[in-house]
Amino acid sequence: MKILAIETSCDETGISLLEAKGGLKNPQFKLLRSVISSQIKIHRPFGGVVPNLAKREHIKNLPILLKKFLNFKSDILSSVDIIAVTVGPGLEPALWTGINFAENLSKEFKKPILGVNHLEGHLYSFLLAQKTANSKLNPALKTPVGTKFPAIALLVSGGHTMLLELENLTHYKKLGETLDDAAGEAFDKVARMLCLPYPGGPEIEKISLKGNKNAINFPRPMMNGKSYNFSFSGLKTSVLYYIRDNAPKNIGQKLKADIAASFQEASIDVLTSKAIKAAKEYDAKSIFLSGGVASNKALRKSLKEKAKKIGVDFFVPDFKFNTDNASMIGAAAYINILNKKKKHKIVAKGNLSL
Ligand code: KG4
Ligand code: ZN
Repeated sequence: MKILAIETSCDETGISLLEAKGGLKNPQFKLLRSVISSQIKIHRPFGGVVPNLAKREHIKNLPILLKKFLNFKSDILSSVDIIAVTVGPGLEPALWTGINFAENLSKEFKKPILGVNHLEGHLYSFLLAQKTANSKLNPALKTPVGTKFPAIALLVSGGHTMLLELENLTHYKKLGETLDDAAGEAFDKVARMLCLPYPGGPEIEKISLKGNKNAINFPRPMMNGKSYNFSFSGLKTSVLYYIRDNAPKNIGQKLKADIAASFQEASIDVLTSKAIKAAKEYDAKSIFLSGGVASNKALRKSLKEKAKKIGVDFFVPDFKFNTDNASMIGAAAYINILNKKKKHKIVAKGNLSL
């Protein structure tokens, strides 16, 4: 099955073409073509994503990307079996641009259209985990063969932070989520306090390498409680107070790096402890890590090590599939099709949940 996937929920415009096979037992994806355009530079001066600017950029970029994607071979679209498009959650003006674009293609090429939940895109992105040895030349992606269930999924992005238990690939339940800021949002806000540019996650990660992660003992909110919910706003406020009390005027480079590293360590501690606690309680055989924050190498390393200690397999997608992309939307579309899941209406749903 060939799936054309379109993603425009936030500040990345993505179009991917995947060939999917193997069914629910052994889903496999071959990434045939993929183009992405990031709007980070446009939103950076504003310190965050501006919805109407995002809409304007998606409208401008979609036809340009499609042209690049087709590379003068317009017959690619006639070979597509289905068009998948993100319907939510996300910024509604941005979501609509992808939906309208997908609907026009669907009409012109007489292809069915399927709405995909962006969070399921992240959730299933681990299916794009393993590269073939020669993946640079051959973009065939091999699914992690023999993924064992039950599994725990930790989904950490700029808009969401949640922990899920998966009985199998298609049956999952939410164990907990953030009660206030998402993990990525906390990284972005702390970065702003440290005068680092947007998006803050990669910046915090970069300067943390020069800092001491044990320099400041920031709080680990809700880490030891029974609940699987998260809270990052207290941690973020502690960083704010620490800066106010210790460096009200200028933060020196060394202190900046120590604050970033200590904040990153506190966040990782909370995220990994909860995931491991859930894995133990639900007797999980695998842990999946996904979302933009999953690009963080320290988080990947910590969760991988902790999972290994308790004998649980760890899966994280290749870096390019952590932050928003259309390939993960294609992967989720395939699982939804096999699962014969109730179809989403093709309208933007900003607050769509799992
Ligand atoms: O999944 P994503 O691309 O968009 C949403 O669906 O929200 O995630 C974006 C978030 C941003 O908050 C960004 O700062 C964070 O992921 N992020 C990171 C890293 N790379 C991106 N956070 C921590 N470390 C990183 N290396
Ligand atoms: Zn996302």
